[in-house]
Amino acid sequence: MLRARASLVTFANRRIGTSAKGFHKTTFHSADEKKPFKGPAENVQENPEGLTPEQFKQEYGKQYDFNEFDVNKDGRVNHEELMMGWERRFGGQGSNFPDFIHNWSPQWFIRVGMAASCGLPLTFYHLGVHHTAPYILTGLVGLYWHIGYSDMKSLKAVRRNFPVIGNLRYIFETVRPEIRQYFIEGDNEAVPYSRANRSMAYQRAKSQPDSQSFGTRRDVYSTGYEWINHSMYPTKISDQAHRVRFGESRKQPYSASLLNISAMSYGALSDNAILALNSGAKLGNFFHNTGEGGVSRFHLKPGGDIVWNVGTGYFGCRAPDGGFCPDRFKDTAAIPAVKMIEIKLSQGAKPGHGGMLPKSKITPAIAEARGIAGPGEVGFADCNSPPAHSAFQGPRGLVEYIARLRELSDGKPVGFKLCMGRPEEFMAIIHAMVEMQVTPDFITIDGGEGGTGAAPPEFSNSVGTPLIDGLGLVNNALIGAGLRDEVRIIASGRVLSGMSVVRNLALGADTVNAARAMMFALGCIQALQCNTNKCPTGIATQDQRLMGGLHVQSKMFRVKEYHRNTVHAAIELCEAAGLNSPGELRPDHIMKRISPTRAHSMAELYPRLAPGCLLQGQAKACAEMGGVPLVEAQQWEARFDQYWNMGKVELDRF
Ligand SMILES: Cc1cc2nc3c(=O)[nH]c(=O)nc-3n(C[C@H](O)[C@H](O)[C@H](O)COP(=O)(O)O)c2cc1C
Repeated sequence: MLRARASLVTFANRRIGTSAKGFHKTTFHSADEKKPFKGPAENVQENPEGLTPEQFKQEYGKQYDFNEFDVNKDGRVNHEELMMGWERRFGGQGSNFPDFIHNWSPQWFIRVGMAASCGLPLTFYHLGVHHTAPYILTGLVGLYWHIGYSDMKSLKAVRRNFPVIGNLRYIFETVRPEIRQYFIEGDNEAVPYSRANRSMAYQRAKSQPDSQSFGTRRDVYSTGYEWINHSMYPTKISDQAHRVRFGESRKQPYSASLLNISAMSYGALSDNAILALNSGAKLGNFFHNTGEGGVSRFHLKPGGDIVWNVGTGYFGCRAPDGGFCPDRFKDTAAIPAVKMIEIKLSQGAKPGHGGMLPKSKITPAIAEARGIAGPGEVGFADCNSPPAHSAFQGPRGLVEYIARLRELSDGKPVGFKLCMGRPEEFMAIIHAMVEMQVTPDFITIDGGEGGTGAAPPEFSNSVGTPLIDGLGLVNNALIGAGLRDEVRIIASGRVLSGMSVVRNLALGADTVNAARAMMFALGCIQALQCNTNKCPTGIATQDQRLMGGLHVQSKMFRVKEYHRNTVHAAIELCEAAGLNSPGELRPDHIMKRISPTRAHSMAELYPRLAPGCLLQGQAKACAEMGGVPLVEAQQWEARFDQYWNMGKVELDRF
């Protein structure tokens, strides 16, 4: 009953919308020709057939008005007309417009073409041979025949069945993303980034005022809404507090910004995009992760700090057989701009999936960066990145490999990047670190919500732990194993605003990386074309013409400004929370609404373990955080005990 009423009210509301616009008295056909309404049984009870307009208003509300077609001869409401009025006027049942499209056929195409062709002599006769209009019309008719005949020979069913007008489908489909983005998409609709978020990135990149009038546009009572608890005693944080040291005890430690550019390979991004990102990183003193396509000349030219992402293809340190080459690694790692090395195990958008760069997309510059054969060279072929590494096996193998790369790079910080999958596999790596007394200098944890240039939709949509859950696990595993002080955590996954920086720091990250937000700073319009080589903004393409549109000299300042303003916004939030440095952020600073009536601090939702508790044989929730309900704490402890024990079994499997 309620459903029926809701649907009726929806229709009736639309009806009011149309009358307000003055479509009220359109004449179609007489109301008495209408068949009585016959809906599902529950509808029949609720349908207003038989009610007078006055009774209807009493039942459903006074706001409804009726026109002559809504009321039958006997003075009772005609429900069908009431519901269908709007649809009829705009091409639904009874309108001729869709019928015209459905009835269109090759025969109609020929008839219309013949009629138009026969009409052409008349235009010459009436307007004369010196007038341009008949010639234009002749051209248009010729074009009509040309398109129609090619459509009839096409292999595409829609074009064969609906010559000429069938092309509208393809035209509309092509411009659909842009139309949707500019006219239809709501401000807070995430696809994957909302208009509001993109605007924030654009404004920060241009250093335009990004203040907001009239209060929040968010529904603060909706589930998932997050906020930071401010203090009555705001502070002032010095600029020096924003740097984080990596590999403190190594020969060549690195001091990183809170926010940096996440891995996006040369190949996925264009020459100019890489140049602008790296120049921005240099101007703003933050790092630029190369992505797994190797260290290209475009990464090196501007001179910004580089984190070298070493994937399964070993680009930049690749042996002829596609495996790892220590000598080549040594050479690339010795480049002064390379500040840290990141072994890529997986990324959130496609964990457990490799990649393939078809040879059609391999340019000489890409081949040079990857250390593979280029066009015209012997061995030129598609370039494969397998799903798994061949240079090591299992948890102990990874830990050994980390130590080896650190040695080969002469003491530069070395870490690894992953999207969390099976917790016991990650725990096995932690066991190996404890057993071998070797730790990475950092772990980058990427969320399942992360981006990519191209991935199978199943992998993007349904594989990979989301960032908050993965980050909680990495942080707690390191704390519980007593390793947290030695290993820095970098978090990535839809980092864009100051709040997203602060939220991740509160949940355990030391710094954050952003990939797509940096693309917005470069001018990305989220056209979702990264996998087609047709990126309209010249960012994710190898098309020389398109990338030529990306003006490096201006975009590098956008990247720098986006970074500066976002870090500033994050620091302001820390100041409002009464902190003296972002490092003081804890999970209990952040609140999350979990139902319309309940909100919890992140400390309650994601309790932290007590330092070293796993080594002592039992997981213990950290008492200092406080406020964790006993039952939740016990469940959390039991879960970590289980992961820890399963991790040991997993370690021994290799
Ligand atoms: C175009 C593009 C290319 C990427 N290429 C790589 C890559 O080569 N290696 C890697 O580890 N991650 C890669 N990523 C993943 C990002 O580094 C990052 O982990 C992920 O997008 C989450 O960050 P975001 O949400 O800020 O985009 C790529 C992402 C994008 C959008």
